[in-house]
Amino acid sequence: MRCVFLLIMLCGLAIAEDGLKAWLRYAPPPMSRSLNEYPIPSRIVVLNSTMSSPVFTASQEVVQGIQSMFGISLDVDDAESIQSRIDTSKWHGNLQENPFEQFPLRLPKADTTQIWPAIIGTIDVFEERYPGKLPDLTGLQPDGFYINISSSAILILGRNERGALYGSFKYLSDLAQGTAFPTTHMSNPDVPIRWVNQWDNLHGRGRQGSIERGYAGASIFFENGLVRDNLDRARQYARLLASIGINAVVVNNVNADSGILSDRNIEGLARIADAFRPYGIQLGISCYFASPEKYGLPTADPLDEDVIAWWNNITNVIYERIPDMAGYLVKANSEGQPGPLTYNRTLADGANMFARALRPHGGTVMFRAFIYDASKLNLKANWRDDRAVQAAQFFDGLDGMVDDNVVIQIKNGPIDFQVREPVSSLFSHIRRARTALEIQVTQEYLGQQCHIVYLGSMYKEIMDFDFAVDNTSAPLSKILNGQQFDRKAGGYAAVVNAGLDETWLGSHLAMSNLYAYGHLAWNPSRDPEELVRDWTRLTFGHDEKIVETIFDMSMTSWPAFENYTANLGLLSMVDAATHFGPDPGYRVHSAIATRAYKGSIGIDRTVDNGSGYAGQYPKRIADMYENVDATPDELLLFFHHVPYTRRLHSGSTVIQRIYDAHYAGSQTVHDYIGKWKSIKQMVDVEQYENVLSRLKFQAGHALVWRDAINNYFHDLTRIPDEKGRVGNHPWRIEAEDMDLDGYVIHEVRPAVSASGGRGIVTSSTTKMGIAAATIGFPAGEYALAINYFDVATGCSAWQVFLNDQPTAQWAGDGEFKLGHSPSRSINGASATRITFSNITVAPGDVLRIEGTPDGQEMAPLDYISFLPLGIVD
Ligand code: GCU
Repeated sequence: MRCVFLLIMLCGLAIAEDGLKAWLRYAPPPMSRSLNEYPIPSRIVVLNSTMSSPVFTASQEVVQGIQSMFGISLDVDDAESIQSRIDTSKWHGNLQENPFEQFPLRLPKADTTQIWPAIIGTIDVFEERYPGKLPDLTGLQPDGFYINISSSAILILGRNERGALYGSFKYLSDLAQGTAFPTTHMSNPDVPIRWVNQWDNLHGRGRQGSIERGYAGASIFFENGLVRDNLDRARQYARLLASIGINAVVVNNVNADSGILSDRNIEGLARIADAFRPYGIQLGISCYFASPEKYGLPTADPLDEDVIAWWNNITNVIYERIPDMAGYLVKANSEGQPGPLTYNRTLADGANMFARALRPHGGTVMFRAFIYDASKLNLKANWRDDRAVQAAQFFDGLDGMVDDNVVIQIKNGPIDFQVREPVSSLFSHIRRARTALEIQVTQEYLGQQCHIVYLGSMYKEIMDFDFAVDNTSAPLSKILNGQQFDRKAGGYAAVVNAGLDETWLGSHLAMSNLYAYGHLAWNPSRDPEELVRDWTRLTFGHDEKIVETIFDMSMTSWPAFENYTANLGLLSMVDAATHFGPDPGYRVHSAIATRAYKGSIGIDRTVDNGSGYAGQYPKRIADMYENVDATPDELLLFFHHVPYTRRLHSGSTVIQRIYDAHYAGSQTVHDYIGKWKSIKQMVDVEQYENVLSRLKFQAGHALVWRDAINNYFHDLTRIPDEKGRVGNHPWRIEAEDMDLDGYVIHEVRPAVSASGGRGIVTSSTTKMGIAAATIGFPAGEYALAINYFDVATGCSAWQVFLNDQPTAQWAGDGEFKLGHSPSRSINGASATRITFSNITVAPGDVLRIEGTPDGQEMAPLDYISFLPLGIVD
């Protein structure tokens, strides 16, 4: 009977997927097992449960999950009322050592009154009720959980209430994936701090709060300077995060607004905390250092008594309303923010002021180490100037000066979330204070969710990085969990920036990064490959073809993005305004510098001849980075300044490697389109189309990157591409070379972001422009690719005619669809490609494009390409 039901459910799979449920869809599991091979209880017994308790949430989640996956409704009872029907005779206190039968289990017969319950609760309450029945679980730590499946019960028990919820999510995830069901499973988090940072502003997008470096719409927390009335999305977010083991969310931007501490906002924050609480998520708050001044004090000096009293008082007020508040996040003396140094105090003085206000309440202050002083940098004049060295200069000497509820939150690399950086040396300097790794899930420099870049592998590489401290094996994860320096554990914080968009991050495929982050923060030994497969099964389905296709795209995506943007440890050559499109020239001497000169490139960070950053690592690592031959190719230009003709370990020269990488990377992502199309029938239509349009955008933008960077180096070095590709585009017609009527030539800045350095724009903001060309390519079928600029100042419309026949049309409305930081200029960030397939032409045919401007977006065009089958250009 159950099997038939499952079959019916599986056939009716066509549920529209908007992405909101992410990996918690609870779709029917694989058909390869029969239903009685799934450990599905006959009812739920919930041990300690008030409505706001994560244990209650856990029971509801299991009910909902089983209903959704198997169509089975389960009753929830408390242990008292169902006591006589639970057979505890087989529980001998050795459940762990004595795994029970293999599946399918021998279950109680249907005609007995005995039940097969799932018992959910904390270890303590379970032991009170069923003394002596559990194995020794003293190793189970806060937030940890224990699952035991036997023929008399399914036990899902947490060391604390949150642990019971985590255990329930694990159990449901196993069911949903149809993977093996271990009869006993115990899991502890590696660290207590598994936080998410949201960079949400109180104000911003019209009435709604914006999100700094967020690419998925407005804030789920704030509108009009206040906390939203409707916190449904906040609640759903908490559920999603709890399912991957996250235990706190800092809800407002690190560039904090002091208004967050107004009475009304504290009231609002308390409502967010109430929404989070059933999911075991604690609320954290970013604090503007000089808040006391905004509320009337003459100073924010951290040693001033009135200032201290002010912070103590406001902290007490917050805890009265939010007794479980996680703590504060502080960005001080960074990028123009005030901090203790502003008042001639030390960073430790600043951190301790917050720590002492929080201490009576058990709160933590996450004090950010992202501190540099751009005013002290003049890279043009000074060879040794380098932002990377500054953090250690600020923090050395402070170790041991901060209280133990201070955690120093350090970005993964010394610069700023670039596609590849060495792991920050600072982690090895701070031996006594607790530290946390800060990474980005939001893809600020990495394509802003319009490029797929699976970051699980990057996170893992960072966590595994061996600092070889004191010549021992010292992976970063061991430094963070406290083992390396024998101190209390710190943890992890990821800048996620989920927004109101139904996909949470603006792109379905970007969600694997959030999934991977949570799982790796819980257990850094998890395999990012396994994680992306699990995530795919839960998000898209179990079909091997889907899993392998998305796996393949995901695993090649970070290397591909690195290939077509910045190679060999060169930092991102992204434009300053949007962090989205290429602008390599701008970066030569900026704080994120390339030092790309005519004959040589890279930053010399050696002690011998450069900024000395290499010497900030423990000896073994310092020796490696100091030595140009020992430095891995992928970080060569981060640590060394070398001639373009230098041979890499791979045998290629630096310049040829740059050219090749850009072609290889852009080809890889071009191929994603076909790969994605191959699973069309297996994916929800809405999701399919959404992902497809983004993959097309990515493929086009990767070419913009490829050409901009390659042309830049080609022009700069005058070293030809051995393969003759750079600057050679036989299938293109430049817009500026077409017959123009109502269009004028526009010099694009930076020139490398347009093919040939120029494009065209309409000569007026109101009148249509026409560009026409007679085709000289051989007769045949082509893909017609058109590169245009989608500027945020309007929505132009373009129409293509072939021999006067309307052939294609599109609108420049990407700013409403793509979510990346829109560009107000014609440049590499607005450069976009659209492709139309199956266009048949013959020599002498006339192609005409009519561009209708909209406001300041004057229907700009760059070039068109007629691409024979198999050619990408
Ligand atoms: C980056 C980012 C800023 C952010 C800063 C930070 O520089 O572009 O928006 O404020 O990091 O982490 O503080």
